[in-house]
Amino acid sequence: MEIIHISAECYPVAKVGGLADVVGALPKYQNKLGNIAKVVVPAYDTKFIRENNFEVTYDAWSNYGNNHFRFRVLKEKTNKLGFDLYVIHIQGLFDRPNVYGYNDDTERFIAFQIATLDWISQWEHRPDVIHCHDHHTGLVPFMVANSVKYAAISAVPTILTIHNAQYQGQFGWDKLYYLPAFDLWKSGLLEWQKDINPLASAIKCAWKVTTVSPSYLDEMMYNARGLESLLRQERGKCVGILNGIDNEVWDPQTDPMIVKSYNLKTVEAGKLANKIALCNVFQLDSSKPLFTFIGRLVDEKGADLLPDIFYTALQQHGKNINLLVLGSGDGWVEGQLNHLKNGFEGSYNAWIGYNEKVSHEIYSGADFLLMPSRVEPCGLNQLYALRYGTVPIVRRIGGLKDTVIDIGDNGFGVCHDQTSTGDVIHAINRAVDLFNDRKKFKEVRKTMMKIDHSWDMAALKYIELYQIFK
Ligand code: ADP
Ligand code: GLC
Repeated sequence: MEIIHISAECYPVAKVGGLADVVGALPKYQNKLGNIAKVVVPAYDTKFIRENNFEVTYDAWSNYGNNHFRFRVLKEKTNKLGFDLYVIHIQGLFDRPNVYGYNDDTERFIAFQIATLDWISQWEHRPDVIHCHDHHTGLVPFMVANSVKYAAISAVPTILTIHNAQYQGQFGWDKLYYLPAFDLWKSGLLEWQKDINPLASAIKCAWKVTTVSPSYLDEMMYNARGLESLLRQERGKCVGILNGIDNEVWDPQTDPMIVKSYNLKTVEAGKLANKIALCNVFQLDSSKPLFTFIGRLVDEKGADLLPDIFYTALQQHGKNINLLVLGSGDGWVEGQLNHLKNGFEGSYNAWIGYNEKVSHEIYSGADFLLMPSRVEPCGLNQLYALRYGTVPIVRRIGGLKDTVIDIGDNGFGVCHDQTSTGDVIHAINRAVDLFNDRKKFKEVRKTMMKIDHSWDMAALKYIELYQIFK
């Protein structure tokens, strides 16, 4: 089958979070199963795009409303990611360093979607599936089915994967004229709660909708930032498929970003060497348990509680634990996390910012990884932690609930029910007990490292899902 993934992120081309990891891995595993999966992302001004070789495969003009733009579709020449990578260059809109966060994000992603469909609709053949990811590509199912301009591909099945319904990309009707012409009586397919809502539109128009874990799909029936009733209505075409991880990128035995490589047999010595190196860099005590957090510092991750959680844990345990955080996001949280360094040198440290290498060093060197998320559609951090023998401490929600079993139930993680300081502190206390029970701790590490979360299975589930379109 020929599958076109359209996305705002793709690792290592442009990454903000887990969306990039999924789009950088799923197509590769779909290709391993004998398919032709391709990826289309905007050509941001990122290191990967600057440093790799691309050739122009299409060069044209298009428009959103009265705004005309020239775009070029560039193909990465060597297929080094395991799939054909196409980046769409639109001067003035994507030649910037960041993926999101600009005032004209609506215009940027509308232009990207239009350019992508202009290009695909003039191919001599038709792809079997157009697979859209999140709201940035959420207008694609509507446009494919309804825009006069795209009549040539109107029969191509579209599928939407919801990675995170917290973000929906709403904008006002004053921008309706940005979209290529369609019968206006179909406008309702774009609408949700009085706005044009790309995520809602994709839920209505895509042939199938997937969520990145089964529990997240269930939870969205009553907690989906206003989309609950729509999802209940469309429940029949929705399916939860748990994300996998790219075992080739995330493998402690071959990971070039970590200090000492290790596997199931050498995990104790390997993790210790990585922990010592990490603790040296961050002035922590490697003989004490090391609790960490990696992620976007936003409310959905429970990041607003981290300063209080860390302060309370450090007060309770004194110098008997270490805490380390890597993340960026909310300015207040960043400030508080930095501020905390002052009173707790030697036991606590924070790296405010984004750093892929440091994240690998933490997965390999930490004892525990905290994920007190309020919402977690899947969560990849806990899956990486499992592969690297780092015990996840997670709230029972979404994908965390689907992937982590508590040590009290013969599992390999520490689970708690609420995103609250009290619950997380209780979990940390249980983790400290586990750390001190060396025999059990070693067993738990081995158990978790044996779990296979690779994309092989999940990639097949998507292929099976596409088959029903045939
Ligand atoms: P989300 O997509 O909601 O942010 P996921 O758990 O799915 O959450 O994926 C997060 C991804 O981003 C992981 O690969 C994680 O290691 C990475 N990540 C998050 N924050 C940072 C950071 N500050 N530095 C490096 N990697 C980060
Ligand atoms: C989103 C979700 C996260 C998920 C990721 C990849 O960003 O917040 O839970 O793992 O997408 O699907």
